[in-house]
Amino acid sequence: MLIAPSVLASDFSQLGNEVRRMDLCGADWIHLDVMDGHFVPNLTFGAPVVKAVRGFTKRPFDVHLMIDEPLRYVPDFLDAGADIITFHIESKSDPEKTLEAIRAGGAKPALSVKPGTPAEAVFPFLDRLSMVLVMTVEPGFGGQSFMADMMDKICVLKARKPDLLIQVDGGINLETIRVAAQAGADVSVAGTSIFKAEDPAQAIKDLKAAAAQ
Ligand code: DX5
Ligand code: ZN
Repeated sequence: MLIAPSVLASDFSQLGNEVRRMDLCGADWIHLDVMDGHFVPNLTFGAPVVKAVRGFTKRPFDVHLMIDEPLRYVPDFLDAGADIITFHIESKSDPEKTLEAIRAGGAKPALSVKPGTPAEAVFPFLDRLSMVLVMTVEPGFGGQSFMADMMDKICVLKARKPDLLIQVDGGINLETIRVAAQAGADVSVAGTSIFKAEDPAQAIKDLKAAAAQ
């Protein structure tokens, strides 16, 4: 299981240092949650902030766009140094155009489904996607409880395309990561359980160990 700490739970006044700290703690990817106050009822940061912290690690930047118009901002996030750009099937942008723009810019495109959206919604795009993000909470806030009933979506997606990377995001801790791993998840995003841990490096090790059980 790859672990992608979500900086949403970090100290924003030290964002660059927090990114570097996660690298040193053994994070596989750095997960950056971009929210526009429209697609979700919360605001975080945009491409200039992603660009500002890009130099603090060489680990892949996994940018999760929770915004109404991802296509409009793809060039900015490519320029900011995003390696993986995830956008929502429920957004207003055309999925084909958006994933093509991401791929043409040299990044890996991923699509995400909110809890209320069936996995089948991304079926038409599976051959052109590097990953599908199955949200395990309603997007917008950290610290929510994992929705175990989302695991069926992972099984449906893996049955359709076994080599597709599946990411889970929301409420991941030592118990829930096992559930996600058993369902077939490959990448886990975790905010609270890593950043609020006394020893984040140990927390990442423990999450990996729990997923392997
Ligand atoms: C929620 C974000 C998540 C969030 C997860 O909309 O997409 O990445 O940071 O936070 P935890 O791990 O605290 O549930
Ligand atoms: Zn996220």
